[in-house]
Amino acid sequence: MIKVAIMGYGTIGSGVNEVLETNRKILAEKIGQELEVKYILDLRDFPGTSVEGKIVHDFSVICRDEEVKIVVETMGGLEPAYTFVKSCLEAGKHVATSNKALVAAYGTELLAIAREKKVNFLFEASVGGGIPIIRPLYRCLMGEKIQEITGILNGTTNFILTKMDKEGTSFDRALKEAQALGYAERNPEADVEGHDTCRKIAILTAMVTGREVDYEEISTEGITGITDVDFRYADAMGTSIKLVGSSRMESGRVHAWVAPLMIGRDHPLYGVSDVNNGIIVKGNMVGTTMYYGSGAGKLPTASAVVADMAEAARHLDSNIPIGWSGEKQVIAPADEEVCRFFVRVSGSFEDRRDMVEAAFGKCRVIDLGQGLDEFAFLTGPMKRSRFAENLEILKVELTAEYQNVLQIIRAE
Ligand code: HSE
Repeated sequence: MIKVAIMGYGTIGSGVNEVLETNRKILAEKIGQELEVKYILDLRDFPGTSVEGKIVHDFSVICRDEEVKIVVETMGGLEPAYTFVKSCLEAGKHVATSNKALVAAYGTELLAIAREKKVNFLFEASVGGGIPIIRPLYRCLMGEKIQEITGILNGTTNFILTKMDKEGTSFDRALKEAQALGYAERNPEADVEGHDTCRKIAILTAMVTGREVDYEEISTEGITGITDVDFRYADAMGTSIKLVGSSRMESGRVHAWVAPLMIGRDHPLYGVSDVNNGIIVKGNMVGTTMYYGSGAGKLPTASAVVADMAEAARHLDSNIPIGWSGEKQVIAPADEEVCRFFVRVSGSFEDRRDMVEAAFGKCRVIDLGQGLDEFAFLTGPMKRSRFAENLEILKVELTAEYQNVLQIIRAE
């Protein structure tokens, strides 16, 4: 029997306990021994529940107990999660976490400690919820040179955008629903401003480059500026709007960004809706592979944590070589990224045609009519720096009366 501890008995932590209980026999058969929860660290007492007798409020009880071999961190946030995880690894315990903020900020150091102590620091649940993505990267795609990872990596924003797209729901209402379903982060800003996606694409990029990625270098836009009118244009164009994180490895340079993206019906991510995540990984030999499933929520995320516990249980005396080194991976300047741009402008296209064409040349124009005093155009593929220059020309061309660029969204 292997004794384990859970730090943080919220949505995911209680899910871990539930998965361990429900699949106790299956896990024992696969691991060869049972996983037994000895302690649960939380501020609350949970009186009258089955876990009451396991609750501790003092972290040192877990850290000092040599019988505890595997510790789960499902507290979220950076502190005290970082201090507790570091102490556990230093004490020779394996750690499995769902905390992407922790992995993105301190992964380099925690992985190094795990290597030194011959234990494992595992974080399958930190990206894609219940979808296997970390293990495929370090195991199944070991023989590949990864060229690109592009994914819908945040369940909350995908849920919100799907509701806005399919049901015309307001942003605020959809966010409240996502929070009630337990998808959202403690602070919803991390989801809707794209920070959660940014940390996840940083982790994936570090996994494939083998180097540390500073998530602050990744250009990040969220979805708070996306409106129902944008979805009306998207619909007319046969596209949808998704929050995407992307990382492209090309000629020794890494281009990474997070932003809302208009994608067409033939794109593999188009059908990824609700809380689901979808991740495309392109390798130089295998071509395109895709990973799809529940990207957030109690049991899917807990399932990934438990899989890491099982992985640690099968490697109790050795460190599995995963992760990245302390060497820094430079992210190419955002200006160099190439994509198409969807631009909404106030006024009528007939009046503004010359100005748009003077700035951007001939573009696809979308005019919804419907009494809207505006139109939109779609540029060809261009570097962000070139788009910014052309946009300046357009703004100069537009008279004061029409000096309104209403929206800019990337398009694939
Ligand atoms: N808030 C995150 C999401 C949780 O919605 O995807 C899973 O990482």
